[in-house]
Amino acid sequence: MKKVIIVMSAVLASSAWAAPDWSRAPARTVKLFYPGQASLEWVMNKPDHSAVPDIVDKKRSCAKCHEGDANEIGEKIIKGQPVGSSQSVLEPTPPKGKAGFIPVSIQTAYDADKIYFRFEWTSPQGGEKKLDTKNEVKLTLMFDGGGTVDGSNQNGCWATCHTDLRTMKSAKDDKKTKYIKDADLAAGKFMDLIQYRSGKGEKAVDGHVASGREMEGGKALIKADGKKDGSKWVVTFERSLASTGKGDHSIAAGKTYNFGFAVHEDYSNARFHYVSLGYQFGLDKPMPDLKNYINVTKQ
Ligand code: HEC
Repeated sequence: MKKVIIVMSAVLASSAWAAPDWSRAPARTVKLFYPGQASLEWVMNKPDHSAVPDIVDKKRSCAKCHEGDANEIGEKIIKGQPVGSSQSVLEPTPPKGKAGFIPVSIQTAYDADKIYFRFEWTSPQGGEKKLDTKNEVKLTLMFDGGGTVDGSNQNGCWATCHTDLRTMKSAKDDKKTKYIKDADLAAGKFMDLIQYRSGKGEKAVDGHVASGREMEGGKALIKADGKKDGSKWVVTFERSLASTGKGDHSIAAGKTYNFGFAVHEDYSNARFHYVSLGYQFGLDKPMPDLKNYINVTKQ
């Protein structure tokens, strides 16, 4: 019996999916939802969203109120139904048949030099538009440098999502992509961005969002892998903890990092993705009172 176990672990250790041992990493399911045109300006405008005083004065995170109903928000927005206290329609052209949310299971781990992320979900029913013909799926993760981007401890990626971006409500320029107001690359006031792309020959992206979105310059992403089995996707990132390139944050013990992630499903692009609310992570730093926190454990 002992022999069998030794042989099995040797096989596991040599497989590409074995580092780290995901069976030892706790999984958390996060509801990614379709945000439509819910920009930072919309969510932070009290006439649209009655929660603004709670967000500003009581420092309530989006996840604190919406982790439970994110699926319902996505379903309403994608159907073009009016939402918020202003009864705004946040999707002017509802895509037919497209799901309003997807549950995604996220796992994390780290070792002496690297951090690992693993995402798993089942592809939902798609819509009719194929906007990115190369990539069936893209998965993007953004994180700050441990409290370096104002508000991202509550809202994750919303600091980068504005009403004047392409495909958003007040777009004037169809090339304009994410940015952070008063960004400062030298001071760490930016979001690091890594992205997996499923298209054949497409390269993983290691970029960042500062006063604009740059899809290159980072050197910390070692590997982004994806695999579709039936309709189930598994995407993994392997990234060095140290910051080595432009727009790379280093990840160290003791800090709390703010992050959010998004999945572009069914050949979509721009805002036509499913997004997470803001979450946080730290390395072996349990924070049982924080609802939107993931403790990354060492292997
Ligand atoms: C204190 C709780 C609370 C917090 C924190 C909060 N919201 Fe809300 N949110 C609400 C309530 C209540 C509504 C219902 C409409 C209203 O009252 O404005 C709502 C509505 C929404 C809607 C429209 C969907 C609907 O069903 O009306 C979106 C989108 C949304 N919130 C996003 C966010 C984001 C993003 C954040 C973080 C920046 C956030 N919310 C923070 C309570 C909250």
